[in-house]
Amino acid sequence: MTDKPKGDAKSGAKGDTTLNIDDMATFCKRKGFVFPSSEIYGGMAGFFDYGPYGTELKNNLKNEWWKFHVQSREDIVGIDGSIICNPKVWVASGHVSGFGDVLVECKKCHERARADHLLEEQLGINADGLSPEDFGKLIEENDIKCAKCGSTELDTPKTFNLLFKTSVGAVEGDKAVAYLRGETAQIIFSAFKNVFETGRLKLPFGIAQMGKAFRNEIAPKQFLFRCREFEQMEIEYFIHPKQHGECPYVDAVMDEKLLVYSAPMQADGKDAVMMTVKDALAKGVFKSPWHAYWLATEQRWFLDLGARPENFRVRQHNEKEMAHYSSDCWDLEYHFPWGWKELQGIADRSDFDLSQHAEHSKKDMSIFDEESKEKVVPNVVAEPSLGVDRSFLVFMFDAYDDDKERGNIVLHLHPKLAPIKVAVLPLVNKLNDKAREVYDLLKQDIYCFYDKSGSVGRRYARMDELGTPYCVTVDFDSLDKDDVTIRDRETTEQKRISLADLKQTLADLITGQVKFQDL
Ligand code: GAP
Repeated sequence: MTDKPKGDAKSGAKGDTTLNIDDMATFCKRKGFVFPSSEIYGGMAGFFDYGPYGTELKNNLKNEWWKFHVQSREDIVGIDGSIICNPKVWVASGHVSGFGDVLVECKKCHERARADHLLEEQLGINADGLSPEDFGKLIEENDIKCAKCGSTELDTPKTFNLLFKTSVGAVEGDKAVAYLRGETAQIIFSAFKNVFETGRLKLPFGIAQMGKAFRNEIAPKQFLFRCREFEQMEIEYFIHPKQHGECPYVDAVMDEKLLVYSAPMQADGKDAVMMTVKDALAKGVFKSPWHAYWLATEQRWFLDLGARPENFRVRQHNEKEMAHYSSDCWDLEYHFPWGWKELQGIADRSDFDLSQHAEHSKKDMSIFDEESKEKVVPNVVAEPSLGVDRSFLVFMFDAYDDDKERGNIVLHLHPKLAPIKVAVLPLVNKLNDKAREVYDLLKQDIYCFYDKSGSVGRRYARMDELGTPYCVTVDFDSLDKDDVTIRDRETTEQKRISLADLKQTLADLITGQVKFQDL
């Protein structure tokens, strides 16, 4: 396994198509998933509008994440915090002083780039965690060029803060300064005491949040991969400080397989190795059962929703990449068309954030642990932090299939994620009344699309391209027999079903309780 991009294209799920990120952006725009924001004014780099089908897919993805991580667990609760809060939160967290990327400007054409991206592109190295001075040296020693004009006259690298500033209230100047949140996580920490006291929580427990985050990225690129406005789904998982070695959930994931790329493997130039969680723990590759548990759980969430296992690996951060308070950090990575990239970071943050907020707010952030009868500042043993927009890309890439036999694109999206669950199609216009009856029967409970225009083959193809798993067709027999056909997107096979059973059958197919071949 190599860390280098395998060219600029990616194999489609089933067909022989190749697809890069620009093709994906074009497809998303053409089919109403995602558009460049404010395009009529020339757009704005790093900002996007989700269209009708993208909004449905994104909402489904977020609902599935919330169900899996919050509603189906006793140990995790959720919050929905504010986007703007007291700016002291961001001072305490370190974002005001240290949340930046190293920027380098071309003296000739004034193009500004991220120093780590220039080194990655031109030297093929992972330059995460280097200081501006380190970058300066490497740039000089290796004759690094401006990506736009090719000049080697680059200015001294400097840190650029990514927080977006705004002002609040009818005042101006420094007193009004506030920030758009740079991550959802800090709101979990600043609200920690309120959530703990009202949530009837016992260690170990997690607090989850999903929502918008904003970063003034130096170089937004690769479509939804690096935006200036994006969404995160994050969990802070708190334990008793003495509970680092005991994860009560790890047994359930022992047989999960992960493609593991540890820091020593990277340092020794070795390939990533596929292993079970059990083996990785036995060999000491994972130091903490909590990391093993969260990495396997997070990969499982993707796989259960139809992502392709061969596109995932877990990579450990090396010493330089890690924050000083963090004892270990792993990323869940996905093989994007331009290489393995971070999808989700899972860091051990110890008591850093709660202690920082205790110091800056002068409020006690410790809690009473019923089990040990001790007052403790809980440790964050894992912070699974996932981007919604990157997840959206994963599901789109893994679903996309330029099916040459059918002559159209098929999105093999999991029915739970599919924007439209069912299309209702009258075979011909004369059957509109009956088809409307079917649509009305379903629409309250299942998101349906009614389509009467064009040949039925063309309508099936349109639905394939949006990832609609089932098409219900009303034909002349439907008038006499009160039944319809269901067409399965995956096989194009059709089965007849009575109207009396239709709604329940479709609901069972969408949730996976019934398989189409068993109907
Ligand atoms: N609280 C920890 C945190 O925010 P991060 O690695 O900076 O960690 C977590 O971000 C995740 O958020 C990333 O793995 C990625 O999926 C997503 N993310 C971060 N910056 C992003 C950006 N500019 N555009 C899209 N997604 C982004």
